[in-house]
Amino acid sequence: MLSKRMEEKLNKQINSEFWSAYLYLSMFSFFQNKNLTGFANWMKVQYQEETTHAMKIFDYVNDRGGRVLLQPIAAVDTKWEDETDVFETTLNHEQKVTSLINNLVNIAIEEKDHATNNMLQWFVEEQVEEEANADEILQQLNMLKGNPHGILMLDRELKQRTFVDETKQI
Ligand code: FEO
Repeated sequence: MLSKRMEEKLNKQINSEFWSAYLYLSMFSFFQNKNLTGFANWMKVQYQEETTHAMKIFDYVNDRGGRVLLQPIAAVDTKWEDETDVFETTLNHEQKVTSLINNLVNIAIEEKDHATNNMLQWFVEEQVEEEANADEILQQLNMLKGNPHGILMLDRELKQRTFVDETKQI
């Protein structure tokens, strides 16, 4: 059984993960509009991943006898200056999510809730990957500033990304 405090905090995180999905869907639309189909593809996969993150916590709350109470999803940005601006936003956002996850782990420890702590360790690892992925693309974009040919090459590379539901892998 989850404590009330833990249940509330996990509910908040479900909302944050859906908000993340919504943010990346907005970025998907931004890139689609610019005909950067590879960048758009990368963001669509990111959107799909975020929904699986939300559902992993959703299912966990249910499994522990808690109740998921869905809250409204706040508005997200729709405009960015350029590709670099989008990936700066992405990296900053993922760093913020990492601190939310760390905070949840701290609460699980305070509540002596080992099962929740254990479930959250998947997210601790995932956040290392999330930050590294965004940082790698941001660094490439910083090197490519003012080089449209390079941007198109990167766009082609980002088209290769495919969605895999990592929450189902052990
Ligand atoms: Fe759900 Fe991008 O972390």
